[in-house]
Amino acid sequence: MIKVENVYFKYKNSDSVLKNINFTVNDGEIISIVGKNGSGKSTLGRLIAGITKLKKGSITIDDMSTSKDIKTIREKVGIVFQNPENQIIFNNIYDELSFSLKNLDTAEIENRITTSLKQVDMYEFKDKDLYTLSLGQKQRIMIAEILAKNPKYIILDEPTTMIDSYGKEKIHDIILDLKQKGYTIICITNLSDEILLADRTLILDNGEVVAEIKKEELIDKYTILEKYGIKIPTLLSIIIKLKAEGISMNIKDFSVTSLTTAIKEKLETERKSI
Ligand SMILES: Nc1ncnc2c1ncn2[C@@H]1O[C@H](COP(=O)(O)OP(=O)(O)O)[C@@H](O)[C@H]1O
Ligand SMILES: [Mg+2]
Repeated sequence: MIKVENVYFKYKNSDSVLKNINFTVNDGEIISIVGKNGSGKSTLGRLIAGITKLKKGSITIDDMSTSKDIKTIREKVGIVFQNPENQIIFNNIYDELSFSLKNLDTAEIENRITTSLKQVDMYEFKDKDLYTLSLGQKQRIMIAEILAKNPKYIILDEPTTMIDSYGKEKIHDIILDLKQKGYTIICITNLSDEILLADRTLILDNGEVVAEIKKEELIDKYTILEKYGIKIPTLLSIIIKLKAEGISMNIKDFSVTSLTTAIKEKLETERKSI
């Protein structure tokens, strides 16, 4: 479990960037963090990953502090950034993935690399050079790189902002698959459709958590998103409009498939009642 308590943050010579941040992330959850540019999302992500040093408040991960237990925190928490180009060190995929696994034996390194490349559906590219890949594929390699280190928690900081729409969808599938596999994920995003992947959404505004909305509350609480300038996810806006027309549906999750199923069930029920 990740526990963020009374966190305040400012950079040298900057105004306050984060103010009194409090929230928890339960094991196995996907949390999305949204908010306008400059609202403090990346700073918060880096504080949780232990990359930026916390000055005030506390962040604990499985009862270890990001201020004291840096080495363990780095092992437990993997972070992926917006631009894969800025994270790649080597040209060869094997070199890139094995770089931070040096203390393991060769068989274990091979095993970790194979498993993590398969998890991001990039195994067939294992012998390719990174420069030959698309940005989306490079980002999947960056995700594989953190998975190879066997983290428990994954922070994705706008992982799809720079990626084309096919690449985005691939990464969405990977996120959902990782949740199935038991990872706990924080997905920082400025693409509102990605809210729908999450169990809970936190809205950051001007350095403060101004709202926390559970997935099942989204239909009733969508005006909160509007209030903070966050576009209503497309699928959610369709469901809201249908509801406003008196067509409310039992939606399991926010996917095209489950919306289609719900509409089909609705039509069948109506047909039977005629
Ligand atoms: N290294 C830094 N030094 C000084 N100010 C920074 C630094 N990084 C970010 N900031 C400032 O902190 C605020 C929050 O930035 P950031 O956490 O990147 O927000 P977001 O990810 O939501 O866009 C912004 O005003 C930004 O200019
Ligand atoms: Mg950011």
